[in-house]
Amino acid sequence: MKTWIDQLRSTRRISDEALLELLACTDADITEYLHQQAHEVAVQQFGHYIYIRGLIEISNCCKNDCYYCGIRKSNTKVDRYRLTTEQILECCEQGYNLGFRTFVMQGGEDRAQDAEWLITTVKEIRQRYPECAITLSLGEMPREVYQQLYDAGANRFLLRHETYDENHYYQLHPSEMSFANRIASLKTLKEIGFQTGTGIMVGSPGQTLAHLIKDVRFIEQLQPQMIGIGPFIPHKDTPFGNQQAGSIVLTLKLISIFRLMHPSALIPSTTALASLSSDGRERGILAGGNVVMPNLSPVNQRKNYSLYNNKAALGAESAEGLNRLASQLKKIGYAISYERGDFQS
Ligand code: 5AD
Repeated sequence: MKTWIDQLRSTRRISDEALLELLACTDADITEYLHQQAHEVAVQQFGHYIYIRGLIEISNCCKNDCYYCGIRKSNTKVDRYRLTTEQILECCEQGYNLGFRTFVMQGGEDRAQDAEWLITTVKEIRQRYPECAITLSLGEMPREVYQQLYDAGANRFLLRHETYDENHYYQLHPSEMSFANRIASLKTLKEIGFQTGTGIMVGSPGQTLAHLIKDVRFIEQLQPQMIGIGPFIPHKDTPFGNQQAGSIVLTLKLISIFRLMHPSALIPSTTALASLSSDGRERGILAGGNVVMPNLSPVNQRKNYSLYNNKAALGAESAEGLNRLASQLKKIGYAISYERGDFQS
């Protein structure tokens, strides 16, 4: 197995058979070796630095009804909010003063924050913060709108494909949604020139190791600049409320595999990982992650952007907690990078 890991590191390739065995392997020694190799590659690429992205959750209103997600349209218990352009600009100002040079606007697919409003908002941020990166994580849109947002000054877009198995996709999403459009949207984003991120939840209901192999192959083919991998965590007011959370061990293995296959990719140690385990963020970094995304949303709204139970939004997961993040990173030999941190091949 170690030979396969060595080969994966040197060639960036792995056969389906080896991948399956690696994902299924429970030998702690092998897993540790995989993480070590991935960690070394991350350090070669980025040094002992972690990029930070300020996450602004701009709306928890959503027209979609994904079975896993706490802000799905059918969840009547959510106190819905949407930030105004002014509120978003205040978040950016606070973030800028704290040292953030990437703002990530994430939200549900909210019809009220329409293309025109979004474009105006992006232009405003672009004008005030010419040297900052603007990342959007706002779901599927027509090509023209993606293009207009790019032209307005957005640089990056996050859109997880969630699963590359079509049947599994419809176990996670109602039939009104479209697997084909999800995949097409990702290709469009790349064509337009966005630094594009995709990814999956690990351990989502119905997911098998064979599905994960398909995800790895899709990502190999798409060559995204960013890869987001977090464990599935149930939300009590969703159809998956009684399902088990995804495995941290498997999540970490996938982070390492992606790091070895895509050395220069930006791979976050995700909030979901940090939410599921108190040392999740550190373990994600030691497995090859190089980005964290502290929460920069208005503090009084954070509880309402609950995608899953016990989502971390305070302490080292918050923009105000950067000092705490820095001291936690220091313990594992890392420091925060205040660079904008674009993808570099
Ligand atoms: N558990 C873990 N991750 C989730 N997401 C949404 N709901 C959950 C959940 N219950 C992730 C999805 C989405 C991203 C913004 O959050 O992968 O793409």
